[in-house]
This record gives sequence, C-alpha cells and structure tokens, in this order.
Amino acid sequence: MAILEATHLVKRFGPVTAVRDLSLTVGEGEVTGLLGLNGAGKSTTLHMLLGLITPDSGSVRLFGQDLARHRIEVLSRVNFAASYVDLPGPLRVREVLDAFARLYALRRPAARVDEMIELFELGPLRRRRMMDLSSGQRTRVQLAKALLNEPRLLVLDEPTANLDPDVGDRIRGLLSRLADETGSAMLITSHNMREVERMCDRIHFMADGRIVATGTAGELASHYGVDDLEEVFLKVARG
Ligand SMILES: Nc1ncnc2c1ncn2[C@@H]1O[C@H](COP(=O)(O)OP(=O)(O)O)[C@@H](O)[C@H]1O
Ligand SMILES: [Mg+2]
Repeated sequence: MAILEATHLVKRFGPVTAVRDLSLTVGEGEVTGLLGLNGAGKSTTLHMLLGLITPDSGSVRLFGQDLARHRIEVLSRVNFAASYVDLPGPLRVREVLDAFARLYALRRPAARVDEMIELFELGPLRRRRMMDLSSGQRTRVQLAKALLNEPRLLVLDEPTANLDPDVGDRIRGLLSRLADETGSAMLITSHNMREVERMCDRIHFMADGRIVATGTAGELASHYGVDDLEEVFLKVARG
C-alpha cells in the first residue's frame, strides 16, 4: 500500500509556479529521494505533503486518507525535520524534547524522550541551550524530535546540509539503520549525491516544478548513459 499518494499538485506564489502538476507515491518502508536544483520546487512539494501550505489544486493522501479532511489523524503518524527550522534557542535540549513529547500526546513521554536521548547520544547535551549547540548537535536534536512520535513517514528537507563530512556520515548511518529497523518510510531532499545513492530506494528528479526522471540510482545512471548520480544531476539540471 502507498503510505503517501500525491496527485496533480500545483502551487503558485504570485507569478511564480513553484510546483506544476506533480504526482508521486511513497510505499511502506520506502526511502525516497527528491532531487533538483535550488528553486526546483522540492521544499514547496514537501510543505504541501505535510499540510504546511495548501496546494492550489491536487490532493494528498496519507495512509489512504485525504490530508485535507483527516489532517490531525494522519499527521500524528508523520514527522518532519529540516536544516532551516530552528528549535527555540533559549530552551534546553531536554526541555525541547519534553515539550514536543507532550505536544504529541505520547503515552510515555519521559521514557520516549530518554530513548531518543540515548539513540542520538544527547545525554551530555541534555542541559545545553539549543542556541549554544553546533550544527551537528542541533541536527541530532531535530532528528530526535522528529522520531519521538515513531512516525511511519519521516520527511527530511536537507537533513545533512551544514554538517561536516564526519557528522553527516554518522547521521546518514543512523537514518539508514532507523529505516531498516523501524520500517518507517522516508522522503528526503539532499544535494549530497553519495548520500542519496546510499540511502534511497527510489529517486525523483525535479526541474522547474515537475518530476522529470524517476528510478533507482543505477537505473537513472544507465538511462542517462553516465556513471553515477552526480552526473545524472548535472545532465538533468542542464536540460
Ligand atoms: N513563500 C514563497 N513565496 C514566494 N515564492 C516562493 C515561496 N516559497 C517558494 N517560492 C518560490 O518557489 C520556487 C520553488 O522553491 P522551493 O520549493 O523552495 O525550491 P527548492 O526547495 O527545490 O530549492 C522558487 O522559485 C522559490 O523562489
Ligand atoms: Mg528547498
């Protein structure tokens, strides 16, 4: 069954059409990558799938239910992390996670927060304020927050942007392991082609608000007659 099914999405911002007639599905447990140049429409697409903005036309179904009509119900099984979303700076790591655990109305909030602190090795940072953390530490808190509600679909907008290669690599390893262990589906945008090759079962390339190519990294490379995803990206981006 498709966990996510978006059909004919369109989004305009004044004169700009950010997303034009985009359809995509994500299957149970599938890790899907959404790639494209800056401005291709990736974030706008994710924001429509999360109900953060309303499409001008088209529809989104999550877990077989219409997002517009069953918003609270379906979004309780989804979560989101992005490099550009800041958690409240003055709050301490533990406080942030506790606040979200309550917001999500988890059954055992404290225990779940402890699990996430353990998983993301946040123990030593529990009492640190968000604003005093490095980008890598902040990303770990973001991901811990995003996994609190055990989402069946995790949406990640450039989760490893701003991270050094070492931290980026650790985060990738953790996310891959989580995808395997929890079977939760992920939808990820990234400009790191190695990351996408390593993590994603299926990849969609976007250009100018549309999906222009879909496949596994291998399928895309052979379709475009190149060696790897990096070269696919350049070919697609340059038309
Ligand atoms: N809130 C907004 N208001 C006006 N234009 C926007 C807004 N959000 C995105 N856009 C425009 O929509 C297009 C797609 O942007 P975006 O979805 O952020 O692309 P990507 O994430 O692929 O870089 C860009 O031309 C961008 O400037
Ligand atoms: Mg973006």
